Amino acid sequence: MTEKTKDKLFDKEFKYSHKNPYHDKLDEFSEFVMRDNEAEDHQLKWNTDVFKKEGPLCVEVGSGFGHFMLEYCEKNPEVNFVGLDYRFKRSYNLARKLANHPTKNFRYLRARGERVEFIFGESEVDRMFYFFPDPWPKKRHNKKRLFQAPFLEAAYKILKPGGIMYVKTDHDAYAQWMAERIEGNELFDCELKTFNLREEYPEHFLASFKTKFEKIFIEKNIPIKAFVLKSKKQS
Ligand SMILES: C[S@@+](CC[C@H](N)C(=O)[O-])C[C@H]1O[C@@H](n2cnc3c(N)ncnc32)[C@H](O)[C@@H]1O
Repeated sequence: MTEKTKDKLFDKEFKYSHKNPYHDKLDEFSEFVMRDNEAEDHQLKWNTDVFKKEGPLCVEVGSGFGHFMLEYCEKNPEVNFVGLDYRFKRSYNLARKLANHPTKNFRYLRARGERVEFIFGESEVDRMFYFFPDPWPKKRHNKKRLFQAPFLEAAYKILKPGGIMYVKTDHDAYAQWMAERIEGNELFDCELKTFNLREEYPEHFLASFKTKFEKIFIEKNIPIKAFVLKSKKQS
């Protein structure tokens, strides 16, 4: 990796401070909702201490309204699923919806994707999902895109040997940006790269569901771009 744009969020010493009113309101759902550094206490203990059952540990960055998380957990009851999103109000609204959900093989975190290497331990995670991230289209904002060297290094660290990261985006320029960072990287093999998922790989797992945002893009006839990255870590 040549690019190094680590900001303070990737720093172990980063200190949280919250003024958002929805921060405290999330307490109502403490059975299955966590915030930021509360979650960091569970590093390497998610299955034993939090889920209290063995199972593939899955992590979604940017769960939004939680549609994928719920669908995936229903179809795969054996998984332990942690979905995270950094918007407080969206997190609160999602928590209210999840409170009535019959199965609880998920936990929901109000946290930033930049923090994954402090939330999860080394080689703790089986699968990661990163769907329709904010594209930060203006050139001066490109550096805010999560998909770059520090995040890829963090993902590599927390994924098990052979662990997989699934990525989808609607955004041409962000997809191109991702492809450039994937090409020649030393951490992941690229098992799938497509700029038109549904036309080229209609039978692929990634084409078997539509996230909330994805439905909107499909209605607008925007081709879905997708990548599957497999960790090169040796066991
Ligand atoms: C366009 S929405 C997509 C939501 C969902 N994945 C979907 O496909 O329907 C992007 C989501 O990512 C969240 N997000 C953006 N940057 C993030 C970050 N650095 N860490 C965690 N969540 C983030 C936003 O709050 C938002 O809910």
